[in-house]
Amino acid sequence: MFKNFKILDEKDKRLRKISKDVVFPISKDNKKTIEDTMQYLKYSQIEKYAKKYNLRAGWGMSAIQIGIDQRWFVIVEEQEDGSFKNYFFANPKIISNSEEKIYVEQGEGCLSVNRNVKGIVPRYARITVEAYDMEGKKFNMRLREDLAVCVQHEIDHLNGILFIDRIDKKNPYKDMDLYRAI
Ligand code: NI
Repeated sequence: MFKNFKILDEKDKRLRKISKDVVFPISKDNKKTIEDTMQYLKYSQIEKYAKKYNLRAGWGMSAIQIGIDQRWFVIVEEQEDGSFKNYFFANPKIISNSEEKIYVEQGEGCLSVNRNVKGIVPRYARITVEAYDMEGKKFNMRLREDLAVCVQHEIDHLNGILFIDRIDKKNPYKDMDLYRAI
């Protein structure tokens, strides 16, 4: 069964909260919700389902975007062979980062921001994240390029920050020469 979530819009104040740490073990119901968000993101990236359910394509979703005040997010990434890889992070922390910064040339997108926003969002090109999996087991993961951007975008959500906050209002392309476009 496909669950079509109602995603909070940028104007919703709940998106500005600092989410609370996930407490383990994660209940069966919450695990089901997490799996449903993964399916939602997967479907959003498959044209047939995106049309059927009227979904905007998205890679990542944080719990707070569906009104759950907890520090977890999921990322669903299409692979070269057309399959999808799921990532789950609870209570994530960036424990190291590159000096180099990058930005998404087309601009970042967010399921909570239903408009086109121009400007660059500088992000670390490479990060190492410490987090917990669904069973509460700690892991470290090195991430680079798009995935690194995506994880930084989602960690921002857990801290009440939207990507639009990181764009300079007066000069949306400020300092772009300092960063590498991806
Ligand atoms: Ni977002």
